[in-house]
Amino acid sequence: MAGLIPQSFIDDLLDRADIVDVIDRRVKLKKSGKNYMACCPFHQEKTPSFSVNPEKQFYYCFGCGAGGNALGFLMDYENMEFPAAVESLADSLGMTVPREQPERREERGQRELYPLMEEATRYYQRQLREHPRKATAVDYLKGRGLTGEIAKRFDLGFAAPGWDNLLKALGTTEERKQQLKQAGMLVENESGRVYDRFRDRVVFPIRDQRGRVIGFGGRVLGDDKPKYLNSPETPIFHKGRELYGLYQARQANRQLERIIIVEGYMDVIALAQHGINNATATLGTATGQAHLEKIFRLCPEVVFCFDGDDAGRQAAGRALDAALPCMQDGRSARFLFLPEGEDPDTLVRDRGAEHFLGLVANAVPLDSFLFDSLAANLSLGSLDGKARLSKLAAPLLQKLPPGVYRELMFKELAQRTGMATDTLSQIVAPPPAPEAPPAAPSSPRQRQPRSQAQAGPTGLVQMAIFLLLHQPAVARQVEDLEPLKALEGDEVALLLELLELLARRPESTTHMLLGHWYGTQQGELLNRLASQERLIPPEGIENEFTDTMNRLLNHPKSREFEARVDKLKHRNYADISELEKLEIVQELREKRRRDEERGRKQ
Ligand code: UTP
Ligand code: MN
Repeated sequence: MAGLIPQSFIDDLLDRADIVDVIDRRVKLKKSGKNYMACCPFHQEKTPSFSVNPEKQFYYCFGCGAGGNALGFLMDYENMEFPAAVESLADSLGMTVPREQPERREERGQRELYPLMEEATRYYQRQLREHPRKATAVDYLKGRGLTGEIAKRFDLGFAAPGWDNLLKALGTTEERKQQLKQAGMLVENESGRVYDRFRDRVVFPIRDQRGRVIGFGGRVLGDDKPKYLNSPETPIFHKGRELYGLYQARQANRQLERIIIVEGYMDVIALAQHGINNATATLGTATGQAHLEKIFRLCPEVVFCFDGDDAGRQAAGRALDAALPCMQDGRSARFLFLPEGEDPDTLVRDRGAEHFLGLVANAVPLDSFLFDSLAANLSLGSLDGKARLSKLAAPLLQKLPPGVYRELMFKELAQRTGMATDTLSQIVAPPPAPEAPPAAPSSPRQRQPRSQAQAGPTGLVQMAIFLLLHQPAVARQVEDLEPLKALEGDEVALLLELLELLARRPESTTHMLLGHWYGTQQGELLNRLASQERLIPPEGIENEFTDTMNRLLNHPKSREFEARVDKLKHRNYADISELEKLEIVQELREKRRRDEERGRKQ
């Protein structure tokens, strides 16, 4: 495969393909009004909430939030990467995929490392079967309760004792030696001597999501130090993004409901040995946001699993930090603390899979973990304790992305601190800035100074994006982008990008726009907004867009809006549908913006 696929071809392809066709061939669709419905293939459900819109050529699931165009569907449903999905769709339409400029040199260089890593994998596996000293490794693995079948599924191997086994076996030309070095399999010391990185260890090949071997971990057979060695960062291996066992988990599960994040290679494998096939581990690094985004693209829930000691608690704090910005509506994260001295490996071997799954089922939700761990050292009976809780929690809650979950968390904080008689207005009130003193509980409505970033007219921006998505042609109204550039915030940036794209390609349709941002965080927002058809203003998109852009740029006050927010305050949150919640959130932001406006003028 060579070169990039030209955007114009992708646009053309999406234009010719019919998403109803593409999906119906895989998931039987039933017509319902002007859309088609089915039970969602991406999560378990009994009543259909998966809808396909033939006019806009995209799908959306009201249950799990999955959504996208025909290519996105193929990628998710068939577990394909983007180029493969393009090939497949083009194939089904009898089109040939053209390729743009030839591949860059580094890219080709990188690509050549993959087959070499696969060779190394096979080599180590063969050593495990054939090396004269294979018994030490085989016995070690057996001693840890692993069967040959699991060893095979994870391609476990043996790096025999000696300085140059791999070097001799695979480094047969100067070029291959260089490549092995580049891939981190050989080490060069100061005096220029080159030798095998992994020696006298069992080795764990690390595969990326596509199944390519990108690195290795290696464990000593006894008590030597270091216990584990990992491949260094290389052009194809990035610890901050990769998860051990993710490939195998996807192979073993057609649809992953949740992913368990454990600490070690052996934990992943031991769990698989006991039939628990959805565990992954980070590679000697803390779990970061990039890991979590990767997981959340595949399934809606993660369960973090930690040792029950201090180190585990600390790791949990870091995981919480990484998780907060990823907690879009519909995603969930839970925390499991194991008894002191145990890890998933020892636990599943001693107590069995049922026991471990029971613990997973009872893992603590992120919200409880956050509030309970903050409250642990505070006496919430006192006003001071409550003020401290709000001071500690607010900066964390601010990391949550906009959404109903975030609003609910602020509501929860208000309840726990008893600081709000009027809960919703408390939600609207921005939390104290980190350097500001905690809000005194005796004056709950006292406003803290707020940052410019929060003051962004987010509600209007989303509305503008929403309208653009549904009728991209309205972009013509905006002749001058300069005034918009003065506004701040990620959503404004997205709106600008949309307008710029539409200026370059005015003929773009909804599904081309969704395709452009597919798989990104912005893409998720776009999918959600694109699905809110019932919010399309009856007065027509064009007028509403003019109005929204005017308000966005001029910040006028609107009494009418105020009244609607007030009415919403008196309804029970649980009785409000997801769609309405989105509207409420928007209304709340509106209100916040106007409050601030007023504050500044006073
Ligand atoms: P642990 O020390 O908790 O080991 O390391 P473990 O998984 O229980 O190992 P066993 O059961 O003794 O085999 C957890 C993870 O931390 C990284 C590895 O990724 C390991 O799987 N680690 C640990 C290292 O990178 N280097 C080390 O020396 C130790
Ligand atoms: Mn262990």
